[in-house]
Amino acid sequence: MGSTVLVSLLLCLVTSSVCAAIVFMMFVFRPVGGAVLCPLQCVCETRPWYTPQSVYHQARTVDCNELHLRRIPVNVSADTQVLLLQSNNISSISTELQRLTNLTELDLSQNHFTQCDDLISMGLSSLGRLVTLYLEENHIEELEDFSLRNLSSLEELYMNHNRISSIGPKAFAGLTNLLRLHLNSNRLVAIDSRWFESLPSLEILMIGENPILGLEEKNFMPLSRLHSLVLAGMGLASVPSAAFLGLDYLESLSFYDNRLRSVPRDALSVLPNLKFLDLNRNPITWGCIPSRLFITFSPSLVNDPPWIRLM
Ligand SMILES: *[C@@H]1O[C@H](CO)[C@@H](O)[C@H](O)[C@H]1NC(C)=O
Ligand SMILES: *[C@@H]1O[C@H](CO)[C@@H](O)[C@H](O)[C@H]1NC(C)=O
Ligand SMILES: *[C@@H]1O[C@H](CO)[C@@H](O)[C@H](O)[C@H]1NC(C)=O
Ligand SMILES: *[C@@H]1O[C@H](CO)[C@@H](O)[C@H](O)[C@H]1NC(C)=O
Repeated sequence: MGSTVLVSLLLCLVTSSVCAAIVFMMFVFRPVGGAVLCPLQCVCETRPWYTPQSVYHQARTVDCNELHLRRIPVNVSADTQVLLLQSNNISSISTELQRLTNLTELDLSQNHFTQCDDLISMGLSSLGRLVTLYLEENHIEELEDFSLRNLSSLEELYMNHNRISSIGPKAFAGLTNLLRLHLNSNRLVAIDSRWFESLPSLEILMIGENPILGLEEKNFMPLSRLHSLVLAGMGLASVPSAAFLGLDYLESLSFYDNRLRSVPRDALSVLPNLKFLDLNRNPITWGCIPSRLFITFSPSLVNDPPWIRLM
């Protein structure tokens, strides 16, 4: 940039019209990496970006948040790594993203997507390096089988606050590296353990605030790497004793704001690594447990969990 300024200053001395042209180009076209143009109204610049493991990177970022866009801009530069399209009015993707093979983060939250189907799948199919996908606060009703299959690098998928009532058994096929899945505040009435067969790496699952009719036996069985499970605000009145079978690494479990009348001892007894259990806002009536029902375990208590001693 410094040399560009110097050259333009030198040229200014030669002819004022060349100077005007250069200044126009510098300020109107906002170059990224020296040459590439930026979509109208968006901000294109290099910004800090952190991986889900908190590793710092510099990322070429195109910020088109809150622009009332109805389409993804067609002229996003091919070297873009982070594309922000939050709070627009976008309801479909066609070929706009196909060149963006280096995209690592895509934010499509607060838009008007209604489905996650084959069309979306096509639109996202070339994003083999995508690590983070935000689709929160859309109007998505359904996640079809294989709709995210090409996102083999995806580590974080945020779909909170949609209207999802149906997820195909193979909807997450291909997401073998997914670490974090957020499905809070949707309209799911059941949790299907087949979803999780595609998610061998999953560490965090948030699926609270869904009108689930009840948990099933072995409901999370394939999630052998899961650390943290949030089942808050689901109206759960009971938990089947084998519901958590297979969750050998689960450390943290939240039942915040359910209708449990007692601590689900049997279900919890299969969780050898549980350290944090949140039972706040449940109508647990018997008197001996502290009123604040957030129980912190220490590893030495694994075989003698506090609720057993308290009972
Ligand atoms: C990018 O595309 C939009 C819409 O097609 C157009 O209005 C705008 O001028 C283009 N911007 C550049 C820098 O090419
Ligand atoms: C994508 O990133 C690689 C390096 O990781 C780079 O060599 C390549 O040029 C980039 N592609 C585009 C279109 O910028
Ligand atoms: C969003 O787009 C729809 C048509 O796709 C239009 O009816 C609606 O007015 C738009 N809303 C906003 C806030 O721009
Ligand atoms: C997406 O995945 C399908 C099935 O795995 C594959 O046939 C297709 O070539 C992939 N598309 C891209 C653009 O990688």
